[in-house]
Amino acid sequence: MSNKPVIEGLKHSLADSYTLFLKTQNYHWNVTGPNFRGLHLLFEEQYNDLFAAIDEIAERIRALGEHAPGSFKAFSKLSGIKEAADESPTPAAMVKELAKDQDTLLATLGKAIEAAQKAGDEATADLLIGRVAAHEKNRWMLKSSS
Ligand SMILES: [Fe+2]
Repeated sequence: MSNKPVIEGLKHSLADSYTLFLKTQNYHWNVTGPNFRGLHLLFEEQYNDLFAAIDEIAERIRALGEHAPGSFKAFSKLSGIKEAADESPTPAAMVKELAKDQDTLLATLGKAIEAAQKAGDEATADLLIGRVAAHEKNRWMLKSSS
C-alpha cells in the first residue's frame, strides 16, 4: 500500500543521501592541509552515518512495496545535491560545500516528512525525523570546523 508522495519523498531522500555519501567520502580521501587529520576523520564519521542511513531509507521503500533506485544514473536524476567536481577544492571550500549540502538534504527531508505525516505513515516520518537530527548535528560540526 504505497503512497506516491511518500515514495517520491523517500526516493529523493535516498538520492540526496547517496550523493552526499560519495561526496563526503571523496573529500575524506582528497582533503589536504594543516587540519588534515581532523577533517579526514570528521568526513569519515559523516560518510559512515550516511552509509547506514542509505540502507535504511532504501529498505523502507521496499517495505512499502516499491523498487528502490540504486544506480548513479537514477541518483543523479533524483538528487538535489551536486556531485563533487573532479578537482579537489580547498579544505575550507569542502567544509562550506558539505554544510550547504546538509541544508539541501534537510529541505528534502522536510518535504518527505510532510508527505509521510499527511499520509499517516508514522514509520516513514519517524525514520526521516531521525535523519533530520543527524543532519542538523552534521551541519553544526561542519560549520564549527571552518
Ligand atoms: Fe578512509
